[in-house]
Amino acid sequence: MIEIKGIEKSFGDHQVLAGVDLTVGTGETMVILGRSGCGKSVLLKLVIGLLKPDSGQVLVGGEPVPYDRPGDLFRMRGKFGMLFQAAALFDSLTVGENVGLGLKENTSLNAGEISRRVKEKLLTVGLDGAEFLKPAELSGGMKKRVGLARALAMDPEYILYDEPTTGLDPVMGGVINELIRDLQHKFRATSIAVTHDIHSAFRIGDRIALLHEGRIVHVGTVAETKATRNPVVEEFIEGQSG
Ligand SMILES: Nc1ncnc2c1ncn2[C@@H]1O[C@H](COP(=O)(O)OP(=O)(O)O)[C@@H](O)[C@H]1O
Ligand SMILES: [Mg+2]
Repeated sequence: MIEIKGIEKSFGDHQVLAGVDLTVGTGETMVILGRSGCGKSVLLKLVIGLLKPDSGQVLVGGEPVPYDRPGDLFRMRGKFGMLFQAAALFDSLTVGENVGLGLKENTSLNAGEISRRVKEKLLTVGLDGAEFLKPAELSGGMKKRVGLARALAMDPEYILYDEPTTGLDPVMGGVINELIRDLQHKFRATSIAVTHDIHSAFRIGDRIALLHEGRIVHVGTVAETKATRNPVVEEFIEGQSG
């Protein structure tokens, strides 16, 4: 379980998060919807401890994120897989080296075991045999798949997805949504995906939250979200339909 409690975050005099409360159940995929610039990436960074909140706390499996203890924070991050918005692959490394980097740096697995695990994760994301390619040889959709394989490499208990379909054409976006949905069903990692794309949100989320003006103003299942009379949610959905 991930519990976000009363999180506030400002940069200078710009308050981005004004008291965010949200609980993500074990094995659940929560999608946080919100407009560009509303603080979605900031919120994910607060969950994984790349940023520290001004006030409030995040509990991961009941344990407060140890913002001021680098060693403990590093260990906590080991339970997370993260798909970054811009895939964030190292161009000089092969696909296989990118996927295996976390295993090489954070585990005692030997080269053969890492290679076996990398192959397995690439197979899981539909990139069987791609381990010797370089990122420059990949399409946008393939880069997202490599990012997913890397997020899965450490068999994480928790997965964070930052804008998983941004920058992809609608067809490839749909393919990535299906892949994420399949992975979520298969591994049941407790997950948060942030996006401004309602089609993606409805496809991959068990529940949907709307982040608006620094707060969560709606939480509900996909069906509840489609049916809600909350005007902020209705406006958000109408703004993107068609
Ligand atoms: N490290 C930072 N320093 C100053 N401002 C930041 C920083 N990170 C994010 N912001 C600001 O916080 C707001 C929310 O950003 P972000 O979380 O990236 O939005 P999005 O919802 O599009 O992911 C933006 O106005 C952004 O400029
Ligand atoms: Mg963002």
